[in-house]
Amino acid sequence: MKRAILTIGIALGAIHSLPAAAQDAAAGQRVFSQCRVCHVIEDNGRNGVGPNLHGVVGRKAASVASYSYSPAMKAKGEEGWIWTEENLNTYLENPRGVVPGTKMSFPGLKDETQRKNVIAFLKSQG
Ligand code: HEC
Repeated sequence: MKRAILTIGIALGAIHSLPAAAQDAAAGQRVFSQCRVCHVIEDNGRNGVGPNLHGVVGRKAASVASYSYSPAMKAKGEEGWIWTEENLNTYLENPRGVVPGTKMSFPGLKDETQRKNVIAFLKSQG
């Protein structure tokens, strides 16, 4: 019994000692299940309803050549819009507010922690 408690204690300690970014990414992976309906994130994965998101952090908007973006998203890319963490944060809160006319029919993540975590996950994939 004592041994079991000790083991649990060590396991919890290991979780707590994970770097903050890794913890956020793990939580973000769960949030990403909402995105997975439309997006894959695996390297060279096929586009779904939405474009592949592998390496999206730091990428220019509308830059997956094999994906057919809306004119609104293409214009955003031509404008030079980069998916920085900050830009992802505002987009994910309200996609249509940032890219009016986007065909991403996702209402947005209103919870700031969820956005932060999912961005940490996106960052860890690519
Ligand atoms: C209902 C389907 C759907 C869901 C759910 C969805 N998306 Fe999208 N997403 C799209 C579509 C479609 C586009 C292309 C938008 C366009 O061309 O206007 C897109 C575009 C994007 C882009 C821009 C990519 C680029 O290459 O410029 C990002 C970033 C993105 N989505 C992130 C997310 C994240 C993160 C989630 C989950 C929180 C999510 N999406 C949920 C359909 C979806």
